[in-house]
Amino acid sequence: MKTIQLNIDKALGRGEKSFALTKEQIYAQAANAKQANFTLENGTGKGNDFLGWLHLPSSITPAELADIQATADSVRAKCDVVVVVGIGGSYLGAKAVMEAIGGTFDNYRCHCGPDPQPPAKKSPVVLFAGHNISEDYLYELQAYLKDKSFGIVNISKSGTTTEPALAFRILKKQLEEAVGKDETRTRIVAVTDKARGALRTLATKEGYKTYIIPDNVGGRFSVLTPVGLLPVAIAGVDIEQLVQGAADMEKATASTVAFEDNIAEIYAATRNEIYKSGKKIELLANFTPKLHYVSEWWKQLYGESEGKEHKGIFTASVDFTTDLHSMGQWIQDGERNIFETVLSVDQVKYHLEVPHDADDLDGLNYLAGKRVDYVNKQAELGTQMAHVDGGVPNLKITLPELNEYYLGQLLYFFERACGISGYLLGVNPFDQPGVEAYKKNMFALLGKKIIH
Ligand code: PA5
Repeated sequence: MKTIQLNIDKALGRGEKSFALTKEQIYAQAANAKQANFTLENGTGKGNDFLGWLHLPSSITPAELADIQATADSVRAKCDVVVVVGIGGSYLGAKAVMEAIGGTFDNYRCHCGPDPQPPAKKSPVVLFAGHNISEDYLYELQAYLKDKSFGIVNISKSGTTTEPALAFRILKKQLEEAVGKDETRTRIVAVTDKARGALRTLATKEGYKTYIIPDNVGGRFSVLTPVGLLPVAIAGVDIEQLVQGAADMEKATASTVAFEDNIAEIYAATRNEIYKSGKKIELLANFTPKLHYVSEWWKQLYGESEGKEHKGIFTASVDFTTDLHSMGQWIQDGERNIFETVLSVDQVKYHLEVPHDADDLDGLNYLAGKRVDYVNKQAELGTQMAHVDGGVPNLKITLPELNEYYLGQLLYFFERACGISGYLLGVNPFDQPGVEAYKKNMFALLGKKIIH
């Protein structure tokens, strides 16, 4: 089995750098990381009622996957556009997988000529709503949906979150006005708690097809439940391969796997040691726009899991080479309080060479015949060398390819390492008490009646 790789060599100082962490220091944490991993598996740590994600990949059954796929197929057959409504953990996982696996311009298909895709393979345009409260966003979405055959996947574990509830109310009304109440019921799928919340009540009353978010899986750990799997299956992602990758990573990161072979334990130990050395910000960097939303998902996973009790690494992300032309200066020369984790993709999907040009007015003929990815890889290497020289410890995670299988590995790897890392930090990685503060103020300002 090929797996994603973690390389921490460039995070280790050799005395002359402004970072001086040694391999011995990291390996000295092996027992603690192993203990944290055991604690996860034994369910004896903080937040242990939210460990349902731990064995999701190996416990999801073929029948469950087939049911999700069947629903996805019927939505795909019925709708040209599907709006996925959700926020935070009920949004970012699906968005991350779709952007990483789908074609970059899939949603820009024009509806003006013959459809190049054979009908059996035709994927709907998948859009998102409920992840903001922008009136203009919702207005423009409504305008786009006018005269289109659309459906809605409404995802909310609590079933009461304001942003998705608001978007859903608006979109449901539009759908009812377009196709009538009976047809609307067949075009909505709800993913929510098994019994509680306004969305469950509404789904039961209207008779929507529903999927359950397990009680013991928190939002940011829910990408491998129907929260993530249903939307991505609608978009045409191979969910069996995604889950297979995650299941293989579940095995590879089990607490029985030796520390030196366990990339989740090594990543968790390394980032915690770097944090203790005073570098409080982790930048997740990529060299392909397809990974932008994986970074957004990762930021939530680690930020919301560890940022509590006035401690925790601040998670930030950059898209290279784009951001080398903006944040590159700060990363190279600003305050030395950051470290960088690079997501690197070994083999790209397509082949494109730099063409030769007879005039060579742009001076690029020295690259003629070289692949664009070769140029990108030299940018990646050059950036790593520069940042390490500039005092930025560098971790590298390599995916052999960007496909469903390796993405499944990556998502599970990050989840597992997050649980271990949170325990190493000494916090409960599975709660999020801080997110209530803004809601309290917003509801008071809006005059919401609190029902006790
Ligand atoms: O990770 C989390 O718990 C949050 O980001 C939630 O997913 C987010 O607030 C949405 O909550 P809900 O699914 O209840 O609407």
